[in-house]
Amino acid sequence: MSARAFFVTTPIYYVNDSPHIGHAYTTLSCDLMARFKRLDGFDVRFLTGTDEHGQKVEKSAAVAGLDPQAFTDKVSAEFRALAQRLNCSFDDFIRTTEPRHIRACQALWQKLVESGDIYLGSYAGWYAVRDEAFYAESELVDGKAPTGADVEWVEEPSYFFRLSAWQDRLLAFYDANPDCIGPRSRRNEVISFVKSGLLDLSVSRTSFKWGVPVPGDPAHIMYVWLDALTNYITAVGYPDVDSAMFKRFWPADLHMVGKDILRFHTVYWHAFLMAAGVAPPKRVFAHGWWTNEGQKISKSLGNVIDPLKLIDEFGLDPVRYFLFREVPFGNDGNFARDQIVKRINADLANGLGNLTQRVLSLIGKHCGGAVPTPGALAAADQALLAGAHGLLAAVRTEMEQQAFHRALDLIWGVVGDADRYIDEQAPWTLRKTDPARMVTVLYGLAEVIRHLGVLVQPFMPDSAAKILDQLAVPAGERGFDRLGPAHALPAGRALPAPAGVFPRYVPPEAGDGALRAQGAS
Ligand code: MSP
Repeated sequence: MSARAFFVTTPIYYVNDSPHIGHAYTTLSCDLMARFKRLDGFDVRFLTGTDEHGQKVEKSAAVAGLDPQAFTDKVSAEFRALAQRLNCSFDDFIRTTEPRHIRACQALWQKLVESGDIYLGSYAGWYAVRDEAFYAESELVDGKAPTGADVEWVEEPSYFFRLSAWQDRLLAFYDANPDCIGPRSRRNEVISFVKSGLLDLSVSRTSFKWGVPVPGDPAHIMYVWLDALTNYITAVGYPDVDSAMFKRFWPADLHMVGKDILRFHTVYWHAFLMAAGVAPPKRVFAHGWWTNEGQKISKSLGNVIDPLKLIDEFGLDPVRYFLFREVPFGNDGNFARDQIVKRINADLANGLGNLTQRVLSLIGKHCGGAVPTPGALAAADQALLAGAHGLLAAVRTEMEQQAFHRALDLIWGVVGDADRYIDEQAPWTLRKTDPARMVTVLYGLAEVIRHLGVLVQPFMPDSAAKILDQLAVPAGERGFDRLGPAHALPAGRALPAPAGVFPRYVPPEAGDGALRAQGAS
């Protein structure tokens, strides 16, 4: 296989609770990357899944009156269904209770023992079940974890990982790999944390049972983060490091995580891997957190946003668009209803939707329902087309940095250019004054819409497909290798009757309670 490989992962989600907007956000961001890279010719592997062990899950199962396995089976299925409903193109869904994962965890543990990085001791200190994290006395704020989680005092025999010995090697790794943590500001945070000194990490528990047994000492189960992080290598075949899968996809190209779990993914994970003789991931990107109408999202406040309800109300693609257009990826963002409505109406219905509809209706009415044959291009036509042709390179640069908002901004820049162009050229007037010129103008616009349709695919796959269907672009000709003038729309290709792609959002109280189809212009 010659295509370059690209391995992207979501965090695996705790099954203590039903999925919410935060989970949807992380998974969707990986889908954008996976789809973009596939269209760009990469051999992509996109992994997601569920984190099913640990005290938090064990407690939630008890509250639900189920044994932990039955409980995790149920909630894990909800996470899988959400990823499917979000139209996420994952290739593998891993569950940490699967045999392949237990095997990988135990093999990794064995490696850490062999390298001398694990020793037996005893832990006495604070633990926050909500965070599944250990905290030093000095880190507590008003008797709670710095995250606000309740802590409990734990005293038990425990194996430790010699994290303190990895400080210099971690710093050397970050130094040699400037892109290994994004965004920049987060990279700096991780580096200063490591420079401030690392303590050895407790990596086993004895006071409960729901976890992977430590090889040779089944009184201990592995610390849930050691277990969970290992999922990324389990899924590519670890411990079979000579397998074709492992060689092709490891080290991962991108671990996408929320800012709250960056430390686990860039300090602990890298140290575990290096100690086991496995290369660390190439890049870890931390995104920000959503608030709801200005408030922290929490179950106790009752303001958790259910992604399924959001999709039912606004449609899947508009939600996918909104989440990545509204807030610079990496920053925290606020979810506000009036903003999503504004975006849907301004950018989608009036923007790309209206542009597509106007152009295709004119072609349908005045060009016999087929791609017209253009005449010589004027300077304005060339300028507009040059903008469309240049988009891929510019968008690719942003996607490589996970700057999704900037990628969308670039694409919508061309939507704006095309809107201005159509108003200036006024093909509806040209129809009477210069029909040959009208044909050239409409041809150029159709070609621009083809570019927009192809580039929008990672963000709004279904809507992009509708646009490309209306241009009768064959399914096998929608990859990025088809962008540019060499593969322009062939004149004479018959086109189907145009239909609206992005309905306007009409609030229930002001209209008929439904999304109303956008009328033809
Ligand atoms: N199980 C661990 C991850 C282990 S990965 C080896 C975990 N799970 S989680 O279910 O709690 O969270 C998963 C993701 O959801 C995190 O990336 C987190 O940042 C994200 N979000 C949870 N709430 C969020 C918001 N309100 N906003 C955005 N993302 C948020 O952590």
